[in-house]
Amino acid sequence: MEILKTKSEMNNWSKNKKKESKTICLVPTMGYLHKGHISLVEKGKPLCDELVLSIFVNPAQFGPNEDLNSYPSNIKNDLALAQKAGVTAVFLPEKGNIYPENFQTKVALQHLPGFLCGKFRPVHFAGVATVVTKLFNIVMPDIAVFGQKDYQQLQIIRQLTLDLDFNINIVAGDIIREKDGLAMSSRNTYLSGPQRVSALSLSKSLNLARELIAGGETNPYTIKNRLERLIRSFAETNIEYICFCDPQTLEDMEKIDRQVLLAMAVNVGKTRLIDNALINPSQ
Ligand code: PAF
Repeated sequence: MEILKTKSEMNNWSKNKKKESKTICLVPTMGYLHKGHISLVEKGKPLCDELVLSIFVNPAQFGPNEDLNSYPSNIKNDLALAQKAGVTAVFLPEKGNIYPENFQTKVALQHLPGFLCGKFRPVHFAGVATVVTKLFNIVMPDIAVFGQKDYQQLQIIRQLTLDLDFNINIVAGDIIREKDGLAMSSRNTYLSGPQRVSALSLSKSLNLARELIAGGETNPYTIKNRLERLIRSFAETNIEYICFCDPQTLEDMEKIDRQVLLAMAVNVGKTRLIDNALINPSQ
């Protein structure tokens, strides 16, 4: 496994692979890898010749009061996991290499960031879109894999790829959960023992919504009330949003009469957790 520390090293590596007619898949991450990230690698590997995993904690996607400075990191462990998973190259740039002094450009979408997490994290998606655009230009992948846990991010990347004419196939990776249902996230490491129990309120409320919808409930407001009560019954929870929305446009749905995206963000103590499910009323 090669470790490429600058964008020119990375770009030259990709150009050489392309000369050899090799296809490249990119799995972008911010490190502190867990099974969720590894599942993205496993999804991408059979689709390409070379698998590039990038590790870069992107300062542009953190708001002023967010956890940039405490974001967990363990590069040694990340490299061991990447190697074991069969990654061909790790792109591990420094901040100054990605954002040199006098960096001025922002990639921002007009509509999709106005929903869900974007309402509460106003700088987040422009930061994501900017760094992903740069990663696409540097790595030049044929395929890129993004997890569905960040569903809004995935939709934004799909739109960006279309809008900016990237010839890249965007592949979605499933949400990977702990045995008890908690969606895997690098931020789970912030949770204390009791908070870890409260964190289950998200997956439990997704299950409750599935049951209510399967039982014929079509009113999102009625379901939302039930979910709010369930989540609030767990200690230290503070709901940021619960939305029933159209899986493509992310606009609110007034009636659940077709596939719906149920997405939520809940603070457990100081840790902000997100989760979602695509729910089909006919199932
Ligand atoms: O999903 C993430 O880890 C990040 O948002 C990404 C896509 C690596 C961009 O920094």
